[in-house]
Amino acid sequence: MNKQNIDKAASFIKEKINKQPKIGLILGSGLGVLVDEIENQEKIPFHTIPEFATSTVEGHEGQLVFGNIHDIEVVAMQGRVHFYEGYSMEKVTFPIRIMKELGVEILIVTNAAGGVNTSFMPGDLMLITDHINFTGTNPLIGPNNPELGVRFVDMSYPYDRDLQELAKSAAKDVNVKLQEGVYVALTGPSYETPAEIRMFRTLGADAVGMSTVSEVIVARHAEIRVIGISCISNMAAGILDQPLNHEEVIETTQRVRTQFLSLVKEIVRKMG
Ligand code: HPA
Repeated sequence: MNKQNIDKAASFIKEKINKQPKIGLILGSGLGVLVDEIENQEKIPFHTIPEFATSTVEGHEGQLVFGNIHDIEVVAMQGRVHFYEGYSMEKVTFPIRIMKELGVEILIVTNAAGGVNTSFMPGDLMLITDHINFTGTNPLIGPNNPELGVRFVDMSYPYDRDLQELAKSAAKDVNVKLQEGVYVALTGPSYETPAEIRMFRTLGADAVGMSTVSEVIVARHAEIRVIGISCISNMAAGILDQPLNHEEVIETTQRVRTQFLSLVKEIVRKMG
């Protein structure tokens, strides 16, 4: 990880925006609507930021949005880039390094995911309690820069336990059903086969997706505390007798936007 690139991007942002958010948000497929809830917005498109990669996927707008939720300063990534777009893991996780540089201490990471646990339903929200990195790679491969973190990162508590409790109590307070489970990440972009989904269920996964784990690994490297929420946008392959498509993913995230928004806003409020 090139520290000069991080410094370049971070100083570009600091010159434009005079804010010190402690909370960072990554908004997954179809979940970018959360930025409408951010007050006093200041936006920076990804493509203007040095070294920042731009998403090519529908449902991923691609900008940094600074502002307030319940008077608490946040920075949100509306859209993210994925490994399957052809970007290196370093590029995919670069925004986490920038958030750290801007002073972010807590990362709220969200995604759309396929339900592997057969008791889930499309539209459920799931608190990520742990993950399985099935991408076959790791964003920390390469020389370690001790300024950014330790060589061997502890992953015993990837998702902060206190923040999990906070999320559960936030869900109760706003009356949103919150499932809990393990997220398994693959590179994609093809969806999984039914046999793969059966395997992941056997391995202990509850939801499957193509993002998040590399961001979480880098966040832990940077000692940022993490909370993760999946929107179960569809049942994973082979569970229902129907094909999967990205339109369904976006439709479901839009259908549950009200619950998603009230949950995330309440989580932020409780962090304040
Ligand atoms: N599999 C992988 N990634 C996904 C899915 C899925 O079923 N749904 C949304 N993202």
